[in-house]
This record gives sequence, structure tokens and C-alpha cells, in this order.
Amino acid sequence: AKLDARNTFGVAARAPMLVEVANTDALPELFGYAMLRDGPVLVLGGGSNLLFAGDPQGVVLALTAQSIALIEDDGDTAIVRADAGVEWHAFVLWTLGHGLAGLENLALIPGTVGAAPIQNIGAYGVEVREAIHAVHAFDRTTRTMTTLTATQCAFAYRDSVFKHQPDRYVVTSVEFRLSRATRVRIDYAGVGDELTAMGIETPRASQVAEAVCRIRRRKLPDPAVVGNAGSFFKNPIVPLAQAQALVDAHPHAPVFRGADDGTRKLSAAWLIDQCGWKGFREGDAGVAPSHALVLVNHGRATGAELLALARRIAASVEERFGVAIEPEPRIVGARW
Ligand code: EPU
Repeated sequence: AKLDARNTFGVAARAPMLVEVANTDALPELFGYAMLRDGPVLVLGGGSNLLFAGDPQGVVLALTAQSIALIEDDGDTAIVRADAGVEWHAFVLWTLGHGLAGLENLALIPGTVGAAPIQNIGAYGVEVREAIHAVHAFDRTTRTMTTLTATQCAFAYRDSVFKHQPDRYVVTSVEFRLSRATRVRIDYAGVGDELTAMGIETPRASQVAEAVCRIRRRKLPDPAVVGNAGSFFKNPIVPLAQAQALVDAHPHAPVFRGADDGTRKLSAAWLIDQCGWKGFREGDAGVAPSHALVLVNHGRATGAELLALARRIAASVEERFGVAIEPEPRIVGARW
């Protein structure tokens, strides 16, 4: 099966078999078949956070169920359950349309609901883990359906148990705890300014989402126009002393809160930008002119070409700053 239209980089890839599952009740039986039971299985959502550097070796699974349901509602807070196959941005709009706040800063992130907990999607000062109540999944090791609490998901910056055990769980649906009380978060640089520019003083959640959409449309290339997978590198988390040394040498280097008091998060975009990569292009593989963290496919780049470029970028950052940066999307068919 051709996967060219199923990855937002738009690179060519083929799977030995593509299985679309509409009813996840079928998963335990489906995984009884040898090819799924014993072989590698790649679960594909929107294809917006992976790079096919080669062809996937086993079955590719796509979950297509589309339901969204309010399963608890006490007037102030509500729990909403959405199927893995629901498009993320459509889901955010659904929650806002029902007067539920919490996901507005995560508007316009490409991908599906099922992919959101895998890398703990985050943007504009919010991570999805803050709203996740539970994750329903098929566990390949026990071949049963299971439910993980938010704690069991072991969320961290762009990380979770699903990344640590990439072949174990098939996320089938996600429960979110959302609030009717608007407690918007506009402290992240850019969002407050955007709202001011829009002439809004006391923003509602839906207006925060609109501001975030405006910023994203300006900064991040639309995958429907030019192939990309959002940020290609994670912002590196380094020991405090290393961050301090960087700022001593480069007073303008952005530094953010780390995982704890002893660490800081550096800006991969800034490091890459300093190395002169922004807008770089070789053949059809390049770096977005609007954002140094976004690798782009201008047309016919292969996954291998994009991976080779990513390696050159990481090597140059390492050489210049002594900082190792790592890919954020899943690399299929090759090792980083
Ligand atoms: N910067 C540069 N050069 C650039 C772009 C940015 O020097 O070309 C500097 C900016 O001046 C700013 C800093 O880098 O001080 C951070 O930039 P930005 O606010 O755009 O955020 P980011 O750290 O590059 C992260 C997420 C994005 C998310 C934005 C907004 C990661 C890996 N990326 O990017 O998430 O949308 O913050 O909150 O954490 C994604 O994961 O795919 C993604 C797009």
C-alpha cells in the first residue's frame, strides 16, 4: 500500500499491508493473526509526526472511528472521550464549541487524537498531559484492552510511556478533563501580543485558539502546501551549568524552564538558526525560511535525503555548541 499521501512530509513509502480498523473491539482478534501478533506493527494517525526514511517492515494500522462523547459533566468540568482517529484540530474546535476550555493553546496542531498522548503534544505554554484524564489502548503484550491513567502514561516534555515502549500499545481513545470556567493561558510569548493586536482585552478560550492559529499560520509552513512534520528536533534539556555557559557566551540565547531546577531547556531553533541553516535547500530537502526547526520537502525529496540533512544539522549544532539535539518525529526505516 502506498503511504505517500499518509505522511505530511509527502515522501514516498510503501507498506506490505495497510489495515483500516473502524471498530476497535476487533483488535484482540485481529492481533491473533500471525503477521500482527509476531511482526512489527506501525500505527499511523495523521502521519504528521513521522519520517519514512525507509519503508515500514510490517503491517500499518489506521484507526478510523470518529466518535466524540461527553461522558461526565458536573457543569464546571466535563470529561470528554474521543476516538483515536478523530482529527486533533477538529476535536479542539468541538470542545470549544461546547464551551469547554483547556485545549485552546493546542489549536491547529496537525495529527489525530490518538497521536496526542504519544509525544505529549504541546504549544504556547501548554502540554496536552495537563488535560488528559485517561488513555484507552490495546496492549499487545497481554492482548487485552486496557486503560492507562495520566500517571501511568509517564508524560514528560514530548515524551511518554508510548515512546518508551513504541510497539506495545495501540491507543484507541483518549479521555480529557476540560473546564467551563475560562482560565486562559496567554503568558507564553506571542499569544498575549497577538490578542492585543486583535483588539481583545479579556479573551475567551475560543479567542485564544484564534490567536494561536494566527501565529501558527504565520510561522509554520502548512503541510498541505509544503511537506513538513512541524518541529523536527526537540528542544534540548541540559544541565543548568551548560545553559549558563551558553548565555555567558551568547547573551541573547533563549533559555526556558527545564525538567527540574537543575536543568534548562534550550531553543533548538535558535541553535540551528545560529548555524545558518534557516532557509537552506539542497535538492528538494530544506529548512523552512520561516522557522529553523522545521524541515521541509519542497517536492520530491526522499525520506533518506531529509534524514541526511537532519544529521548534518545536528552535527553542526553539536560541533558549534557542544549540544546534542534529537529528532522529535518518529523515524521509520532507519536509526537516528
Ligand atoms: N527562533 C530562532 N530562529 C527561528 C525560530 C525561532 O532563533 O528560526 C527562536 C525564537 O526567537 C524563540 C525560540 O527560538 O526565542 C523559540 O521559538 P518558538 O516560540 O517558535 O518555539 P519552538 O521552541 O521553536 C516549540 C514547539 C512547537 C510549538 C512552539 C510554540 C518543540 C520541539 N516545538 O517550538 O511545537 O508550536 O514551541 O509553543 O517543543 C511541534 O512539536 O511540532 C511544534 C511545532
